[in-house]
Amino acid sequence: MPELDSSILSAFLEAGTSPVSGDRLAKELGVSRVTIWTRLERLRSQGFVFAASTRKGYSLTSVPGVLNEALVLAHLRRLKVSPNVEILPEVDSTNSEAERRLAMGREAPFFILAQKQKAGRGRLGRKWHSDYAGNLYLSLALRPFIPPDRLKPFTLWMGLALCAHLDEVQGVKLGLKWPNDLQAADGRKLAGMLTEARLDADTVREVVFGLGLNVTAQAKDFPAELRPLATSLAMAGKGTYEINFVAAQIIATIWGAWSDFIDGSWTKNFKKYWSKYDNLTGKTVTIQLRGEPTTGVVEGVDDDGALILKDAKGQRLLISSGEVTLPKE
Ligand code: BTN
Repeated sequence: MPELDSSILSAFLEAGTSPVSGDRLAKELGVSRVTIWTRLERLRSQGFVFAASTRKGYSLTSVPGVLNEALVLAHLRRLKVSPNVEILPEVDSTNSEAERRLAMGREAPFFILAQKQKAGRGRLGRKWHSDYAGNLYLSLALRPFIPPDRLKPFTLWMGLALCAHLDEVQGVKLGLKWPNDLQAADGRKLAGMLTEARLDADTVREVVFGLGLNVTAQAKDFPAELRPLATSLAMAGKGTYEINFVAAQIIATIWGAWSDFIDGSWTKNFKKYWSKYDNLTGKTVTIQLRGEPTTGVVEGVDDDGALILKDAKGQRLLISSGEVTLPKE
């Protein structure tokens, strides 16, 4: 009964600092007091601290600093979203794991998260540093069955929805560097997205949306070569961040953004979020187009999320994917 741990933790989250009685919990959850006691001991061994508060019961005073499936599910329950979520201690890549499960016929949608990745993947064949267990490595697997054209703005929309959440809820000033980088106000990278899809001529069969979001990492937790380039919520935001609560909030945000995408309501907020979070419009950038560098001034994006670039000859180019560099990068 893994959901029992999550129900126990939900009761503690709901109670806040008030004591939770073991007797009451046992009755409410329909199990014996011994079962509750055994579960609390097991949760303690995972890093939870339950302080005995008088004879009235216990309160939850500390949670593990790494992802814990029962706690993430308890937070999701309180956020009133219930997607299928699994958290692994370690995997090569959550995107690869999601793709393998889709290939084996697993029912979608589902989320896979891992505390660490051994072979985290970034765009353009790059590695995604995934050794630190206080960051998020997450994939959402989907079987959308939509025409390929409809998928074009997907990653940009997901990035903008994540920007709005991180700004409005997590208190981090940030922007989006088209097409897939979330950057803090100092230009360092907070998060990257990697969308991988399996298409037929007329249908998108499978999509895996991957997100790497740095949450509690400090500079020392990144390899030396990444320190000038990478940041985290803890470094760029306000206050403290609890990885399990952030994970649940991010899952809920992605879930909501996906639901808005598939029902078409994303278009209501797309341009508003773009004008708020876009980091490129008005800047001169260079984009690799089929290996050829093209320089121009960014004028914005079209309705499909393609970048509008005015080149040196005054021609407007529509660019649907590519690697953008700014002059001083
Ligand atoms: C990028 O900025 O290049 C994209 C980085 C995407 C990293 C995430 S971490 C979770 C998921 N699994 C992976 O192997 N990659 C993505």
